[in-house]
Amino acid sequence: MKLAKRIDRIQPSATLAMTSKAAELRAQGKDVLNMSVGEPDFNTPQNIINAAIDAMNNGHTRYTPGGGTKDLKEAIQKKLQRDNNIHYELNEIIVSSGGKHSLYNACQALFEAGDEVIIFTPYWVSFPDFVSVTGAIPVFVKTDAENQYQPIFEDLEAKITKNTKGIIINSPSNPTGGVWSDDAIRKTVEIAQSHSLWVFSDECYEQLTYDKPFQSVASLDLQNKNIITFQSCSKTYAMTGWRIGYIGGDARLVSAVAKLQGQSTSCPNSIAQYAAIEALTGDQSCVQKMRKIFLHRRNVILEKLNNIPNIVCDQPNGAFYVFPDFSYYMGSKTPNGKTISNANDLCSYILDLTGVVSVSGESFGAPGYIRFSYATSDEIINDSMNLVKNAIETLNF
Ligand SMILES: Cc1ncc(COP(=O)(O)O)c(C=O)c1O
Repeated sequence: MKLAKRIDRIQPSATLAMTSKAAELRAQGKDVLNMSVGEPDFNTPQNIINAAIDAMNNGHTRYTPGGGTKDLKEAIQKKLQRDNNIHYELNEIIVSSGGKHSLYNACQALFEAGDEVIIFTPYWVSFPDFVSVTGAIPVFVKTDAENQYQPIFEDLEAKITKNTKGIIINSPSNPTGGVWSDDAIRKTVEIAQSHSLWVFSDECYEQLTYDKPFQSVASLDLQNKNIITFQSCSKTYAMTGWRIGYIGGDARLVSAVAKLQGQSTSCPNSIAQYAAIEALTGDQSCVQKMRKIFLHRRNVILEKLNNIPNIVCDQPNGAFYVFPDFSYYMGSKTPNGKTISNANDLCSYILDLTGVVSVSGESFGAPGYIRFSYATSDEIINDSMNLVKNAIETLNF
């Protein structure tokens, strides 16, 4: 069978692959400590669940407008004003089936063959694929690991060409947990503006910053209409399975995305939209509670990582990932004489020996690094880091 070329331009999601691998091992009866999950381990708060039950009981079980209900758009409008200090008109807001869907659709609406799109390394696994599937080319810009993975601006300037059409910012970042300073964001936006680039700001971890309150990129330059804001209910409200994400930005882009959604998914899930209204406008104390727990876990995992010899892990100021550098161990040998050539080998070795599931930095454009998610209990964090340390100590040169 000859599949369309666009399918060859993309890779399966490495993080979803690790989640399936963990489930497979567990089904085989193995003890698995999953440090690869990209979602909060908390249940969705009860008030949000109740809103969904009420929606079903009240008959809100039918198609909605393709870009989301007016009530949800108004809730998003209020939320963006309240938390992020940005105002969008209702025709500048669209709801999609998760933040991933929002980003995918916006890339489809804006990019095509001949375009180049700037992505910062290490990057979330899906960004290059969102771009490549459109026929555009992802162009990678280096960042500074010692400085929250902020851009290396000389590299950014050097990579912009006449074909560059957009730039994707993701702060707080998956996989690094890095949070850029306002200055770094301003500078990036200024450079983008001087070349008339679209700026996509993926803010799905906006409520998970630990050193200072989050600043939405669009709020730093309210005049710049080329900044598009992407947020999601997934991580903030422990709603990953509900699939609600949204975009705020240029009305022409929003209406293009609406057209695409109308011909692909029809509309986001109606019940989840009612739940999202409660999430965004109801009691927000769950957000603070979860943030506090994640901050504690970040400190726990960093302390454990600091006990593993020869790895480097600067403190990430957001999201729920740590991204230590294991480069020192590349080229080392396992007790069976197998060479650890890259982080994929190291993740597989750790998994086989200890049952700890992690994600190799190779899939994030960061060879030698490993991503651990700390969206799990203190006990699993402690046990898994002890096991990783034991595994590392078996390696020799
Ligand atoms: C950086 C980043 N953006 C967007 C998403 C999309 O999340 P969702 O589609 O659940 O809203 C994720 C999920 O892992 C992410 O890590």
